[in-house]
Amino acid sequence: MSLLDIQGLGKSFRGLKALHDVDISVEEGEIVGIIGANGAGKTTLFNCITGAFPPDAGTVELDGRDITGAAMHTLAASGMVRTFQLMRPFHSMTAWENVTIAVQSRGVRPERAARREAGELIERTGLTDWAAMVSGSLPTAVQKRLELTRALAMRPRILLLDEVLAGLVPSERAPVLELLGELRTNEGMSMLFIEHIMAAVRQLSDRVVMMDQGAVLARGSVDEVLSDPRVVEAYLGKEYGNAA
Ligand SMILES: Nc1ncnc2c1ncn2[C@@H]1O[C@H](COP(=O)(O)OP(=O)(O)OP(=O)(O)O)[C@@H](O)[C@H]1O
Ligand SMILES: [Mg+2]
Repeated sequence: MSLLDIQGLGKSFRGLKALHDVDISVEEGEIVGIIGANGAGKTTLFNCITGAFPPDAGTVELDGRDITGAAMHTLAASGMVRTFQLMRPFHSMTAWENVTIAVQSRGVRPERAARREAGELIERTGLTDWAAMVSGSLPTAVQKRLELTRALAMRPRILLLDEVLAGLVPSERAPVLELLGELRTNEGMSMLFIEHIMAAVRQLSDRVVMMDQGAVLARGSVDEVLSDPRVVEAYLGKEYGNAA
C-alpha cells in the first residue's frame, strides 16, 4: 500500500480542466518530483490534495484512509503537511513565534516546551540569526526557509513542497536541498515536490511525474522522464536552458 495514493483526480474552473484524471502515488520514504510548465495544474493538484478546495472527481488516500476533501488541520494531524508557493507566515509575528505556533498545533504544551523545540528546529534550518525578526520583514529566501521550518514543526510523514527553491540563488538552494535529503535519509520522510529547477529534481527525486494541461504526460525515473521526447517538447525544450 502506498503512503499517498491519488486516483482519478479531476478539477475544473468554469470549464477549464485544471486537473484531469490524475493518478499519483508516493511510497513510504520516497521523494516524487512533479514538473510541468506554468499553468499545468501542479499547484491545483496540491490544493485538491490538501483540502483547499474539493476535487470534482477522484480520491485521495493517505495510509489507506480516504482523506478526499479533508481540511488541512485534519491532514496535518494525519501526517501530511504542505508549503505554499506564496508564503503564508503570520507576518507581524517573529520567525520564532511562527514556528512555535506550528509546534503548538501538534498539542505540545507548555509554551516553554514549544518554544524550546521551535528554537532547536530553527537552529537546524539555519534561521537562528533571523529568529527574533518580524516575519514580514525577512528577505524572500529566509521567508521560504521559514515556511519550510513551520511545515517541519508539524512533524510530517509526508511533506508537500510547492517550489520551495523558487526565488533562491544557487548558494541558498544548496543547504535547503541538503536538509531535504537528510530528512529523507535520517527520518524516512516522504515528499511530493513541485519544482522548476531541474538540478534539484535530479538530485532529490526517486521518481518524476510530468504534468501538462492538467494531466499526467509522463512518469518514471528521473532519467526516463527528463529524456522523454514528449517532455522535452512540452516543457524542457523551452525551459531547460534557464532551469538547469
Ligand atoms: N482558484 C482558481 N480559479 C480559477 N482558475 C484557477 C484557480 N487556480 C488555478 N486556476 C487555473 O488552473 C490552471 C492551473 O493552475 P496552477 O496554479 O495549478 O498551475 P501550476 O502548474 O501550479 O503553474 P505554476 O508553475 O505557474 O505555478 C491555470 O490555468 C490557472 O489559471
Ligand atoms: Mg504553481
